[in-house]
Amino acid sequence: MQYENIILENRQNVQVLFINRPKVLNALNEQTLLEIEAALKGFADDQSLSVMIITGSGDRAFVAGADIEAQYPLNAVEGRNWALLGHRVFRLIETIDKPVIAAINGFALGGGCELAMACDIRLASDKAQLGQPEVSLGITPGYGGTQRLTRLVGEGKAKQLVFTGQRIKAGEAHRIGLVDEVYPHETLLDEAVKMAEVIASNAPLAVRYAKIQINQSLQINSDIATAVEAGLFGICYATKDQKEGMGAFLEKRKPVFEGK
Ligand code: COA
Repeated sequence: MQYENIILENRQNVQVLFINRPKVLNALNEQTLLEIEAALKGFADDQSLSVMIITGSGDRAFVAGADIEAQYPLNAVEGRNWALLGHRVFRLIETIDKPVIAAINGFALGGGCELAMACDIRLASDKAQLGQPEVSLGITPGYGGTQRLTRLVGEGKAKQLVFTGQRIKAGEAHRIGLVDEVYPHETLLDEAVKMAEVIASNAPLAVRYAKIQINQSLQINSDIATAVEAGLFGICYATKDQKEGMGAFLEKRKPVFEGK
């Protein structure tokens, strides 16, 4: 597959996947998700690769969310399909039997935060900002955010972050367990590669089996819960508030919600 929106760079047995749409702060559209999926399958099959690092191109963003311009016109069925594609790709990250590290080099919002949460380990730059701002756009999180955020930070913090839609800085994200380490911005990728190399120096099968074991401990009807999430996310596209929330973002104004 010829990639347009991602770049793959191999550093011996560590593969770095850059999400590369810097003009829209690396926002995820369908094409980008399909490219990430293809890259993940290639990584899984390549015996010479042990660890993947996912990060964002440019200096400002990991991923500033799913692409709002692409989502704006969706109807309910398309909205559900939009969520299901995200679930499929993010679940692949989780279930691939090799470690995947998120190197969060800036904004990780909405789908960006959800992408990071699907990775096994989250390392952040001290300039990173994380959040789930979907309700400010008239939708809910749709790429597994309601599930993974709750597991990582607990019910109260997850509800606080999702209901307020507010962004938090790397230090606070670290304090609540949303990211595992924070590094100076300039050193983030080097630190991620260093950690990946340590992991890659361990027994590959033991690392793989350990990932499966830890994942198993987290399985609480996640497939059912994410199916419900995708359905409700899709229904948001039947509301006026979704068009208002996303329309306002695209027109660079404040939204006026009607609850319809
Ligand atoms: N989808 C589509 N385009 C996006 C985007 C997204 N999720 N996030 C940013 N962009 C685009 C902006 O529209 C802008 O495009 P333009 O230059 O053509 O106007 C460009 O990326 C730069 O973003 P801008 O908003 O001008 O940068 P900023 O520094 O003022 O603000 C953010 C940065 C991340 C705070 C802001 O872009 C933002 O809130 N993005 C949306 C985050 C979000 O709600 N994500 C969840 C989506 S479901």
